[in-house]
Amino acid sequence: MNVFLVGHGGREHALGWKLAQSPLLSSLWSTGTNPGLLAISQPSDVSAEDQAAIVQFCKDQSIDLVVVGPEAPLVDGLVDVLGEAGIAAFGPSQAAAQLEGSKYFTKALCEEAEIPTAGFGHFSDLQQARAYVAEKGTPIVIKADGLAAGKGVTVAMTNREAEDALEDCFAGQFGDAGASVVIEEFLDGEEASIFILCDGENMLPLASAQDHKRVGEGDSGPNTGGMGAYSPAPVVTNTVLQQTLDRIIAPTLQTLSARGTPYRGVLYAGLMINADGPKLIEYNCRFGDPECQVLMMRMQSDLLPLLLASATGSLKGSTIDWHDAPALTVVMAANGYPGPYQKGSVISGLEFLSNQDDVMVFHAGTRQHDGRIVAEGGRVLAVTARAGTISAAQQRAYRAVDSIDWPQGFCRRDIGWRAV
Ligand code: AMP
Ligand code: GLY
Repeated sequence: MNVFLVGHGGREHALGWKLAQSPLLSSLWSTGTNPGLLAISQPSDVSAEDQAAIVQFCKDQSIDLVVVGPEAPLVDGLVDVLGEAGIAAFGPSQAAAQLEGSKYFTKALCEEAEIPTAGFGHFSDLQQARAYVAEKGTPIVIKADGLAAGKGVTVAMTNREAEDALEDCFAGQFGDAGASVVIEEFLDGEEASIFILCDGENMLPLASAQDHKRVGEGDSGPNTGGMGAYSPAPVVTNTVLQQTLDRIIAPTLQTLSARGTPYRGVLYAGLMINADGPKLIEYNCRFGDPECQVLMMRMQSDLLPLLLASATGSLKGSTIDWHDAPALTVVMAANGYPGPYQKGSVISGLEFLSNQDDVMVFHAGTRQHDGRIVAEGGRVLAVTARAGTISAAQQRAYRAVDSIDWPQGFCRRDIGWRAV
């Protein structure tokens, strides 16, 4: 099969790395040009935003399956456009991707299907939003309705923070994405994510993971795209998994099907878990980054037939084998991230890691320059290891991190602390 991978980050390197091991794969193309992706796929020279160019490319190269990594092309309807052209694509339609594209869409669906989630209000007027915050008190959570690259959520501990978040949002900090806000009840508990493969009819749970969103150790400092992750998440017991499938995932999929917009692709459920069981914090319509890196490290089965079955509505009867051994990934980011950072610093030492079993360095913001690897983005590498226990995977990952020479980069030293 000829596969085209859309996206260019660590998540896509992990997907491509796993797809490249499939005996069914004939050729792999990608829109990414980091050295990790270049080592396993051919560059396409097509932009992930250019739907017409992607369709033409797929026709020219006889692509059998397009795998869409990031949310933006999904929310923009890339899978619909490919479907109209008769090209199979992994990921939800534009209508179903609203689960990530609009916080209010998801909250309204939860209300309709009686899915456990935080209580909320939805406002497009600053005065009304202020009045709601005054009525409910703090802590309270303010969310821009639309896609805001992971920056649209404020957990406000004080009235001042809530007020600032509302003002920023309505002043246009997130553009159209902030034209309305969802204001949520603050949920207490432990966070974890569950990933489920869907084909419009059937659901096949993948695995659980726990991300580390704050930039600093001890979960301090500003939010990021994710500084590290591990899988499985011990807090997701079999009971929690079953409750999540029964009370959250199944009613979501049934509601979307009944509306005529069935969900295909991977559904990423962000959960808050406490003594009352799991509550939905948010849905994403794609794999997490860096959660995907640990999932791929643990998956034993061939990924390609699973993604194809999800895209073509034939998941029924599929099963997945996993390594029991946990996996853990440490993100190395450029100094300054998530604020402004410099590009172009040289990263060395990666060659010593390329032949190690159970260790894999996934590339995100890197570039090849004059025969060397240089940093090109905020989150740059995801150093990933698998071992018999989470502690052992943590040690193995940090040993690998320590053999990488990159003075202009940093990482959190405590990834996995909850589980270790
Ligand atoms: P989201 O983008 O909706 O996942 O929100 C980003 C982060 O904000 C989550 O990972 C949580 O840590 C936090 N958060 C979001 N909603 C709530 C909530 N209702 N209660 C407590 N924390 C929340
Ligand atoms: N790591 C969080 C996300 O992918 O949204």
